[in-house]
Amino acid sequence: MSTELAGMTALVTGAGRGIGAAIATGLARAGADVVLIARTAGQLEETASGIRSAAPGANVRTIPVDLTDDEQRATALRHLRSAGAIDILINNAATVEPLGAVTAITADAVRAAFDVNVVVPIAMAAAIVPQMVDAGWGRVVNISSSVAGHQTSMIGGNVYTSTKAALEAHSRNLAAELDGTGVTVNAYRPGGVDTAMQGWIRSQDPERIGTGLRDRFASRYEAGELITAQESAAWLLEHLLGADADVTGAIWNLGDTVAL
Ligand SMILES: NC(=O)c1ccc[n+]([C@@H]2O[C@H](COP(=O)([O-])OP(=O)(O)OC[C@H]3O[C@@H](n4cnc5c(N)ncnc54)[C@H](OP(=O)(O)O)[C@@H]3O)[C@@H](O)[C@H]2O)c1
Repeated sequence: MSTELAGMTALVTGAGRGIGAAIATGLARAGADVVLIARTAGQLEETASGIRSAAPGANVRTIPVDLTDDEQRATALRHLRSAGAIDILINNAATVEPLGAVTAITADAVRAAFDVNVVVPIAMAAAIVPQMVDAGWGRVVNISSSVAGHQTSMIGGNVYTSTKAALEAHSRNLAAELDGTGVTVNAYRPGGVDTAMQGWIRSQDPERIGTGLRDRFASRYEAGELITAQESAAWLLEHLLGADADVTGAIWNLGDTVAL
């Protein structure tokens, strides 16, 4: 375990599994205290226990909340603020739903997706960035997707594509707003990663989500094209803590080959 981030606190949303769990583990291994948020308490505890093994002595807190619930989010943020500052915010929680033809999608489903994928990251930044600005240092990373740059690559994923494009626009605009404050904001397209989100797409009825979409995700999985969450997290942390440590307003892109 290194001490590069000793004394710093990182908050990772969607840290119960997949890419979020791997990023939180990497940050803890670099010496940060970590705060893990997701809805499923059991998965948060699994991540926390993995972190304690990978980074003995790491300070890990778990907060099981639905971030789209304004009251739950506000209570969690109040609690966090009273416990000290957050130095690194990783907005990773997201949903890939609703999938399928736009003609079959309800406005409520669109709102629910924008809520978790766009409204929550902006609200988290709004609550946490002021402390970072006061400290003169902070790092915000929004986990995006290559679909934001390849907007016709995921037919049947119209809402997901729209949310990630919006998230990247938010990231770049906020980076410009915070220019010169010491707080950087970047987006990260994590590649095609073998997680529950990919597995969920493969398990869906092709009639509902579209045969082309389902088959594409299945064939990429079967061809062994997906990378692990640990590989994706390692790429991000190399950039966040390495040569690109002071970069802001960037869209970091692990690879364009496998879109989700
Ligand atoms: N996997 C890929 O190939 C891929 C590719 C490009 C981009 N991405 C992006 O990478 C990020 C992570 O993806 P993943 O594949 O690791 O997904 P995942 O396995 O589905 O994990 C998503 C995490 O977000 C949490 N979450 C979802 N809704 C939430 C809510 N309302 N409140 C709090 N937590 C919530 C989930 O936990 P609970 O369900 O317990 O709340 C879970 O911990 C996402 O932003 C995704 O869009 C993934």
